[in-house]
Amino acid sequence: MAKKIKLGILGGGGDSLIGVLHRVASAMHDQFEIVGGVFNPDIDKSIAFAEEIGLPTNRIYKDLDAFVAGEAKLSEDERIQVVSVLTPNFLHFPMAKKLVDNGFHVICEKPLTTSLEEAVILEEAVKKAQTVFAVTYTYTGYPIVRQMREMIQSGVIGEVHKVDIQYYQGWINPILHDKKVRETIWRLDPTKAGISSCIGDIGTHAFNMAEYLTGKEVKTILADLNTRYEDVQLDVDGTVLIRFSDYSKGVIRASQIATGEENGLTVKIYGSKGGFNWEQENPNFLYHLTDDKPVQILKPGHAYNGEVSLDGTKLPPGHPEGIFDSMGNIYYGVAKAIRGLDYDNGEFINVYDGVRGMKFIEKCVESHQSGNVWLDL
Ligand SMILES: NC(=O)c1ccc[n+]([C@@H]2O[C@H](COP(=O)([O-])OP(=O)(O)OC[C@H]3O[C@@H](n4cnc5c(N)ncnc54)[C@H](O)[C@@H]3O)[C@@H](O)[C@H]2O)c1
Repeated sequence: MAKKIKLGILGGGGDSLIGVLHRVASAMHDQFEIVGGVFNPDIDKSIAFAEEIGLPTNRIYKDLDAFVAGEAKLSEDERIQVVSVLTPNFLHFPMAKKLVDNGFHVICEKPLTTSLEEAVILEEAVKKAQTVFAVTYTYTGYPIVRQMREMIQSGVIGEVHKVDIQYYQGWINPILHDKKVRETIWRLDPTKAGISSCIGDIGTHAFNMAEYLTGKEVKTILADLNTRYEDVQLDVDGTVLIRFSDYSKGVIRASQIATGEENGLTVKIYGSKGGFNWEQENPNFLYHLTDDKPVQILKPGHAYNGEVSLDGTKLPPGHPEGIFDSMGNIYYGVAKAIRGLDYDNGEFINVYDGVRGMKFIEKCVESHQSGNVWLDL
């Protein structure tokens, strides 16, 4: 049995949304062991959380500087190899950059940074360090999404001519209408979230999905964003027209004020020979549409799925897979890369696509502020 890869975590404490997803995902394929980190800017809270999850506290550090210095004192065999960055957006760049510069592999939450400029600097640093760098666009880890990607890219639905990806959430609605309450949300604070809330937080997932599935890059975009109130600085809703080429176009619709919606990411992709429909809240069913046959429903775990899809399914068909499996598969791909094993480039989103995500966010804001104009990506 290969030794487990030593994993550190920054952020993702008991008070966080995303921490548990990464902890469970890292354990799922028996590749990683969590050995330390900084779960919270308050060291006492960090230690208390480590105790709560049964982690020895000797490698819980007060901040990233102490983390890097402390790990440097350990033998290579003991040292943390890869670090998950699960903090609010504004900390992704300084943390990830320092980690990469010090030779750590990194698994970074999206959006990669808070500006394109930072993202490009980070990409250069990764190229120089030759380390593994993954950006957790979580929904690319679903086996049936990977199957859809393989089928689109092998031509099953013909030439793609329409992409419609919608990501609707409603969670900001009940807290948006009270000025005092909305001022407490970091996702609406430009110093913590960056230049966008809705497009930066979830529109970026939809954009990544569009490029991930089609294997094509979006060439131009036109965005119309909505902040809902004058004093709200960042968008909470947006519609973005996208063009891959003159004959391949689409729309990305994202909202945090789609009242009552939960985590409604839906994908509709149509080509000359067929189409696919998929919904994140019902992730084990992929609908394959054609002009002349009844709708076909594909499910994960069956022999008709390709290798990359099957590699991410751990139980026989009919045992529903969910978001934990999806993130677990991303971690599994990162483990293969760290171990120097073969892996498919669809197994995790790399720093290049993280930069594409930042370009998309910046251009959407610029398009909107310039009077809803078309801009090149
Ligand atoms: N991939 C996805 O689907 C997905 C879903 C949700 C969130 N996210 C991303 O994950 C990141 C975190 O989001 P969240 O909703 O979990 O945020 P959150 O506010 O719930 O949690 C942030 C965590 O970071 C910790 N933290 C803050 N400053 C820190 C510091 N200086 N050092 C160490 N820890 C620190 C906080 O204590 C907390 O534990 C964001 O970038 C967000 O975009 C991604």
